[in-house]
Amino acid sequence: MKNLLVTGGAGFIGSNFIKYVLNNTEYNICNFDKLTYAGNLENLSDIESDSRYKFIKGDICDLENVKSAISENEIDTIINFAAESHVDRSILGSREFVVTNVLGTQVLLDSAKEFKIEKFLQVSTDEVYGSLPEDDKSIKFTEETPIASNSPYSSSKAGADLLCRAYYHTHNLPVLITRCSNNYGPYQFPEKLIPLMIAKAIDGEKLPVYGDGKNVRDWLYVDDHCSGILSVLDKGINGEVYNIGGNNEWYNIDIVKLILKLLGKSEDNITYVKDRPGHDRRYAIDSSKIMSELGWAPKFQFPEGIEKTIKWYRNNESWWRKVMSGEYMKYYEKNYSSK
Ligand SMILES: NC(=O)c1ccc[n+]([C@@H]2O[C@H](COP(=O)([O-])OP(=O)(O)OC[C@H]3O[C@@H](n4cnc5c(N)ncnc54)[C@H](O)[C@@H]3O)[C@@H](O)[C@H]2O)c1
Repeated sequence: MKNLLVTGGAGFIGSNFIKYVLNNTEYNICNFDKLTYAGNLENLSDIESDSRYKFIKGDICDLENVKSAISENEIDTIINFAAESHVDRSILGSREFVVTNVLGTQVLLDSAKEFKIEKFLQVSTDEVYGSLPEDDKSIKFTEETPIASNSPYSSSKAGADLLCRAYYHTHNLPVLITRCSNNYGPYQFPEKLIPLMIAKAIDGEKLPVYGDGKNVRDWLYVDDHCSGILSVLDKGINGEVYNIGGNNEWYNIDIVKLILKLLGKSEDNITYVKDRPGHDRRYAIDSSKIMSELGWAPKFQFPEGIEKTIKWYRNNESWWRKVMSGEYMKYYEKNYSSK
């Protein structure tokens, strides 16, 4: 039996991961989340009374709070999802990114060291590798690709990864790092490409596409990321990095056109807008290490995953409308603050 501290569990991937773990293992979970704008406890409303689940509102930068969460819940494993995660926001201001993504990770690493945690898994991103040439599809990111991050977001994640590496080498801390490609699926905050385009298409609004729309991303259904993290947690070798990807490269513009097609809408509302500064051209992940060494493979092919996702956003309009109106932020006050 493991007692997991899942940081950032009220966000998109963290909340999907918590449900995945409750459904597929016997582990206990303590969700430790600051509830920034990206944290939404309503994502977990269906499992919040599960006896294996507990929520603590807390900041990973707060050492005392982190330490008491670990000791009071007999935590033996930490999985760090907590982060500022939106590239556009990091361009507008990078301070919060450095504070949470770098200093927060340092606080977690120090706490893990003090409590002799059995496993520390850092959830990282392929964006730490920078950008790939667009015209040579044979080149993909491997775990040996040098770190060459280009945005304040990816640079703060790269800083965290290097600290994790340092705690493994210097302090023998049992650290594992996963670097995943772009995720999509239920509960993704509608500022990210796929849910944003679905919401705008449903509402008949303009669909803003950066630059020429030819930036390439490698999309993975969120449950496949969750299963990859569990594989690394259960079978990964300490000190190692594992890439997780879908072998599923798409131009942004083609994703937008596909969403419109699946929703039965015309392409007339697509508008090209000024490109994001420093916009990485292409990401593509080589997942052969996790596949061959740990036996992981994605379950969802893209046509199935995107259909499921669109269906979910159609059936859960009230979820994303509450996010867009800001009403989701009242969930904690209504349901937790008196507990
Ligand atoms: N979304 C992707 O496509 C993707 C791909 C690869 C890796 N990742 C990584 O996966 C992790 C989760 O991504 P996501 O898309 O679910 O992010 P998200 O923005 O949806 O969620 C982040 C969560 O972290 C919480 N948080 C932020 N600062 C905190 C702090 N100081 N203390 C405690 N909690 C805090 C937020 O409240 C939120 O619940 C991130 O580390 C991200 O870098 C994301």
